Amino acid sequence: MTTLTDYLNDYSPNPALSDVITTVTDVGKTISQLLRKGALADILGEAGNQNVQGEDQKKLDVLANDLLLDALAKNTHCAGVASEELDDATPANADGSLLVLFDPLDGSSNIDINMAVGTIFSVLPYQRQGQISENADFLQAGNQQLAAGYLLYGTSTVLALTIADHVVMFSLDPDTNDYVLIQENVQIDINTSEYAINASNYRYWRAPMQQYIDELIAGETGVRGRDFNTRWVAAMVGDVHRILCRGGLFTYPFDTKYANKAGKLRLMYEANPMSLLIERAGGAATDAVNRILDIEPTDIHQRVPVVLGSKNEVDYVKNLHVTYADK
Ligand code: F6P
Ligand code: MN
Repeated sequence: MTTLTDYLNDYSPNPALSDVITTVTDVGKTISQLLRKGALADILGEAGNQNVQGEDQKKLDVLANDLLLDALAKNTHCAGVASEELDDATPANADGSLLVLFDPLDGSSNIDINMAVGTIFSVLPYQRQGQISENADFLQAGNQQLAAGYLLYGTSTVLALTIADHVVMFSLDPDTNDYVLIQENVQIDINTSEYAINASNYRYWRAPMQQYIDELIAGETGVRGRDFNTRWVAAMVGDVHRILCRGGLFTYPFDTKYANKAGKLRLMYEANPMSLLIERAGGAATDAVNRILDIEPTDIHQRVPVVLGSKNEVDYVKNLHVTYADK
């Protein structure tokens, strides 16, 4: 049996990274316990305020955010923290060498219906050690990430992590409260017949995305010549986990539903960490044209269209968009 501690001892490139990952995953144990208590912990319902993007915050979003923020602020290796729930990054320890970004509770509308939610995290290098970190320090492309992962609080709590050139999964043992390695070197099939999209936004998509979904729905009667199946967890963390387990395509594409939003998902603490996991597991991740990990961010909360998962299917979507743009 290999625990997360054993794994970090063997594979982490340095103790600072191990320490920060241990802090995040320890907080994940607390969040997991709070979620297990559900309504009994008096944590459900709106907290009465809104997050940076103007969405209603659930009480547990706030709690998860505060727990992560407090724990990371005390970690001497962490120079700053950026969260979905906070307008600006929070400086931590100036001598730290790492910056941590997180979505404390992805898919939080699932909380009230007892469905899967998760914590997504990304670790970047800090380039100005000794000075107080600022928002601008976080604006690094996803290809600079030193580590990325998520905690999925589902029927069991699972950690997916990449700190080396492969992706590993751990399960939180409820008896010992340890993360135990359940899968080494996760790999995604390059082909799939399963896809995830919120199809109610169809009329807001661009023509190539509409064409793609039309083709999938036509199934064996259309150009694809085979049937496809839809799955939608309504929490990105759940959909990405399914793809790491059995392949598939997930997309939250560009849409015109809301002005000034290039897509719903956030580049720095949703798309980037998930794209690193997916690529390292042999999949692909694009905004429909460009590799997500190569996008140079201009804002810690910027949004990006996302198409990720099984490589051949992601390439198919990309080709439809590139061909359409060339016309
Ligand atoms: O964080 C945004 C998010 O909750 C994702 O986890 C999820 O994929 C998506 O929004 C769900 O969006 P919709 O409300 O369109 O189903
Ligand atoms: Mn989210």
